[in-house]
Amino acid sequence: MAKPKQGLLFDEGEHAPQLFIENNHVHVKKSTFLAGVSASVHRWFRLTPSFGPDLVRKMLADMETEDGHTVLDPFSGAGTTVIESKMEGIRSIGFEINPLLHFVCETSTRWDLLPTELEDAYRRIGERFQAERIRLAGKDVEVIGIPLPTIHNVFRWWRKDVLQDMLILREAIHSECPDGPMRAFFRLSLAGVLVPDLTNVTLGRLQLHFIDRSGHEIDVWRSFDAHTRRMLDDIAAIPADKRTVLSRVLWIDSTTDDVLKVEGKVDRVITSPPYPNRYRYVRNTRPHLFLLNLSDIWTRHEALSTA
Ligand SMILES: C[S@@+](CC[C@H](N)C(=O)[O-])C[C@H]1O[C@@H](n2cnc3c(N)ncnc32)[C@H](O)[C@@H]1O
Repeated sequence: MAKPKQGLLFDEGEHAPQLFIENNHVHVKKSTFLAGVSASVHRWFRLTPSFGPDLVRKMLADMETEDGHTVLDPFSGAGTTVIESKMEGIRSIGFEINPLLHFVCETSTRWDLLPTELEDAYRRIGERFQAERIRLAGKDVEVIGIPLPTIHNVFRWWRKDVLQDMLILREAIHSECPDGPMRAFFRLSLAGVLVPDLTNVTLGRLQLHFIDRSGHEIDVWRSFDAHTRRMLDDIAAIPADKRTVLSRVLWIDSTTDDVLKVEGKVDRVITSPPYPNRYRYVRNTRPHLFLLNLSDIWTRHEALSTA
């Protein structure tokens, strides 16, 4: 294959044409969220408008980013820029307006948790979940004493049995972990499997669509367990010197003067701005916002109603 020059480059061989991005030569397949689906930490939460870790790594290198610099992503989404900067040992700041994505980005970049403490808490969460499940077996989710998510038409979003297990699990996480980064870690794991594993939706290219899942086999613990184990593996494998690289993720509207109040210097900006006409960030994060009780914040934040 010829060396990439600029713009589109076509492979003259038997394969389909290849698209390279001007100036950085990252294959388009490595530029999208798909590249992050199996990448350590990036795989904790799937956001389809995310860009790929390789693209960010290439931009960091092309912009000669080095130790002592700070990188800003003013539309940080699920945190590809912040995660990748940390992995490269570079300080970073993310701004994000959506409370769920702010939570995802912040939690995905808290690497100072002790793996042994996480494992211990995880065992306790599992035990409490199973015990509560047995205690509440045969009861309707509407009478188990855990308030239902206040999302409109809640049973369109979740089957009653699935919702019951999810609420029991969420409460088990809260009981076993005091409010803080460890609780956030397990809440993120639940958020990570919510769509499409546990919710009555399928994720189309850009939007959630309701589907009938009455006949599907849905096992809340199995999905959560598989995802949590991946997250535990990832966090245990992060090298010690990367765990303490500074990062800040602020819940902020990047289009307001609020950004001027943020202290510190920024040396590089790496971002992929929102696609407001193509992707409805709030709509697509509604089940997460309501299940994790982030929806109160959301309704208080006027700008989000139109995002
Ligand atoms: C294309 S996504 C960014 C994805 C990110 N690069 C990643 O890899 O996950 C754009 C993000 O901008 C956020 N956003 C939209 N308007 C915003 C605003 N005014 N201030 C801050 N963030 C905003 C959206 O919620 C969304 O998460």
